[in-house]
Amino acid sequence: MFVVVGVTGGIAAYKTVQLVRLLVKDGHDVHVIPTDDALRFVGQPTWEAISRNPVTTSVHDDVAQVRHVALGQRADLVVVAPATANTIAKMAAGLAGDLLGTTLLATTAPVLIAPAMHTEMWLHPATQANVDTLTTRGVRMIGPETGELTGGDSGPGRMAEPERIHDAVLRELHHGSGGAAGSAWLVTAGGTREPLDPVRFIGNRSSGRQGVEVALAAARRGADVTLLAANVDRSVLDRAAGDPRIRIVPVSTTEDLERAVESRSGAADVVVMAAAVADYRPHEVADEKLRKEHAEGPLRLELVETPDILAGLARRRREGQTIVGFAAETPVDGESLTERAVAKRRRKGADLLAANEVGWTAGFEQDDNHLLVVDDSDEVVADVEGTKRDTAEVLVDAILARSR
Ligand code: C5P
Repeated sequence: MFVVVGVTGGIAAYKTVQLVRLLVKDGHDVHVIPTDDALRFVGQPTWEAISRNPVTTSVHDDVAQVRHVALGQRADLVVVAPATANTIAKMAAGLAGDLLGTTLLATTAPVLIAPAMHTEMWLHPATQANVDTLTTRGVRMIGPETGELTGGDSGPGRMAEPERIHDAVLRELHHGSGGAAGSAWLVTAGGTREPLDPVRFIGNRSSGRQGVEVALAAARRGADVTLLAANVDRSVLDRAAGDPRIRIVPVSTTEDLERAVESRSGAADVVVMAAAVADYRPHEVADEKLRKEHAEGPLRLELVETPDILAGLARRRREGQTIVGFAAETPVDGESLTERAVAKRRRKGADLLAANEVGWTAGFEQDDNHLLVVDDSDEVVADVEGTKRDTAEVLVDAILARSR
C-alpha cells in the first residue's frame, strides 16, 4: 500500500523513525513528508534511508510530477506523527503552505494523526476545538497518551508509542479487506494458576506475549476479539489495552478459564487457545496458609486432572467454527516437533495446532519464537521463526486461509 507519513516539528519525531521502519518492513511503499521544523529534529537523510524513498518538504520540488498533490492523490492512507498543536490548527483551517498541507488537502484517503505536545497546549480550548473539527471530518486520533513529557512534567500529551500507531495504521488499511472483518475471535493468553492455599499456586512461565500478539494480529485484520488473559503481566497486556477491537477479560485458574470459554465460545467464529493451561490442579486447596511446622516428613501434594478445554471445544464445535490449539514442547531426541504437533492435533481434535519448543531458555518469556503450524490433513502449513508479532501474523494468515 502507498502510505504517506507526515512528520511535524516535535521531539517525538525521533520515534516516528521506528513507525516508518515497521511500515517498510510490512512491505508498504512509504513516503515521508516532514515539515521544515521536523527536519530540525530528524534530518532528511534519515527519512530517506529508512523509507527508501526521496523526501522533500517543498511544493516547488518535482513540479513536473505535480508532487504537491500527487502524493495525496496516490495515498491509501496518511498518518501524521507527531502532530503538533500548530499542525492540528493548520489542518483544521485547511492551510496549504507546505507539501504536507497540500497533500492533506489533496487526499481522500483515511487520515490518522498522533498528537504530541505539552499538556497545557493539548488542553487549550483552541486545540480541543481544532481536534473536534478534525474528528467530525473523519480524521482519526491515536493518543495522546498520559505520561512523562520532555520537560519532565507529566500529563496527557505524549505521542502514542510507534507500535500502537502502527497497529492503528494496519487496522485502517485492512479495514473491510483484512479477511477477518466482522468475525468474532476468542483468544486465550498467559498461564493458569492453581492455588494450593491462599498465598501459593502451581503455575507456569507463560508470559502471554504470543497470545496477545495473536489477538492484536486478528484485530488488525478487522476481527472483534475477546482476549481471555490468564495472569498476564500489565506490561504485556498494555499492548492490547488501547485497542478498540479487543476486549480483555482477566481469568486466573483453569476453572475460571473453562467457564469464560464456555460462555463466550458459542459466539466465536475462531477460538485460539494460546494459553498454557494446567493439566493438573491440587486435589484440595487449604483454607489457611500451609505451614512447615505441621508437616511430618516430605509434603505430599495430590493432584487431579483438569478438564481439557480445547478437546471439549473441538468436540462441540459448530459448523464453520475454527478451533486452534497450541503445544509447548520440550525437545526430545528422535521425535520431531512436527510429529508431536501432528499427534497432539489429532488427540485434541483441533483444526490447526501451533507448536513451539520451550525450555529454560526458549519459548516462554522470550520476544522471539519458532512456530510450526499443522492442519487436519497432517500437513505443515506454516513454519516461521521471528518475533512473536511475526509468528502471530503468520498464524492468523493460516487461520484465515482455512476459514475462507
Ligand atoms: O496437552 P497440552 O497441555 O500440551 O495442550 C496444549 C493445548 O491445549 C493448548 O492449546 C492449551 O490451551 C490447551 N489445553 C486446554 N485445557 C487443558 C490443557 C491444555 O485447553 N486442561
